[in-house]
Amino acid sequence: MNSDTGAVHEHELGEQHVAGAMMLSRAANWNQNEADWRMMLRLGRGFGLSAVDGSLVASIVVLPYGNAFAWMSMVLVSPQHRRHGYASRMLRRALAYLQSLGLAAVLDATPAGHEVYVQEGLRDTWSFQRYSLPEARPVSDWQNVSGLNLRCLAEADWPQILALDLPAFGASREPLLRALAARLPEAGLVAERGDKICGYLLGRDGREARQLGPLVAADLPAAQALLSHALACVPAPLYIDIVDRHSSLRSWALMQGFSVQRPFTRMVHGAERAPGNCESVMLVAGPELG
Ligand SMILES: CC(C)(COP(=O)(O)OP(=O)(O)OC[C@H]1O[C@@H](n2cnc3c(N)ncnc32)[C@H](O)[C@@H]1OP(=O)(O)O)[C@@H](O)C(=O)NCCC(=O)NCCS
Repeated sequence: MNSDTGAVHEHELGEQHVAGAMMLSRAANWNQNEADWRMMLRLGRGFGLSAVDGSLVASIVVLPYGNAFAWMSMVLVSPQHRRHGYASRMLRRALAYLQSLGLAAVLDATPAGHEVYVQEGLRDTWSFQRYSLPEARPVSDWQNVSGLNLRCLAEADWPQILALDLPAFGASREPLLRALAARLPEAGLVAERGDKICGYLLGRDGREARQLGPLVAADLPAAQALLSHALACVPAPLYIDIVDRHSSLRSWALMQGFSVQRPFTRMVHGAERAPGNCESVMLVAGPELG
């Protein structure tokens, strides 16, 4: 560990820290924009470390989902303050807070973050990769999928969407899903067979690219149809985070012109396994949201 560059003090993150938080996420080349930071601080709680000049040097956000677990995300340290133990300190702060609430912790680790989290007792579960599409390409026709109807998400769909999402994600996350639906309405799609919804997709705007996800679907044809439809109406550049076990979807994304950008590992603390069922989670919402 390096010797410290000066005193820092710990505090909660609020609206007044959004500009500093954006500097941290931009320095790491992450995709979050101000709307993302505001959404996460509204739905959860953030902690930070600031230097004596008031600049934010480290961050972490926790998003409680139901009464069993919470997401930890936005673990960021400014490039000139790394290797001083600040990420470990933020992580221990968040874990202590979650322990006081009786919640297990889940996060999606970058390779650099993984080194920190292993030392704090987090365990690997499954993994996913981010794929990026720099520019639009012609896509295969979703209408070819027999028996499947695709349409824009409507208010009356929420009960079925939430019923599909609950076992897939492992907890109710209605406030998050509704916030995402408002962020990029053209990405809000449902797939149905008969009058039963068998898949849904949401998206959001971002600093570098629009992100599509979560995508929860009963099977691969429904997932591909939802994504094909979104590719035809949501402009590139686009990011999608595909769960590794869905190898056919990964191959399909490569054929559409996506390329692999970076890997993530889902890690847990205080739980035996990752919550939910990744068989039906085709695209995660994003490493910062779950
Ligand atoms: C990953 C990150 C948060 C680490 O922050 P940090 O404050 O430098 O981490 P710490 O000082 O607490 O590191 C604790 C230990 O973890 C390990 N570690 C930290 N960063 C590492 C890296 N880039 N490579 C390998 N090991 C690393 C080291 O063992 C370190 O102890 P040491 O410095 O005594 O060797 C920071 O590099 C960062 O902001 N990166 C970009 C964003 C990112 O990937 N965040 C993680 C999201 S999951």
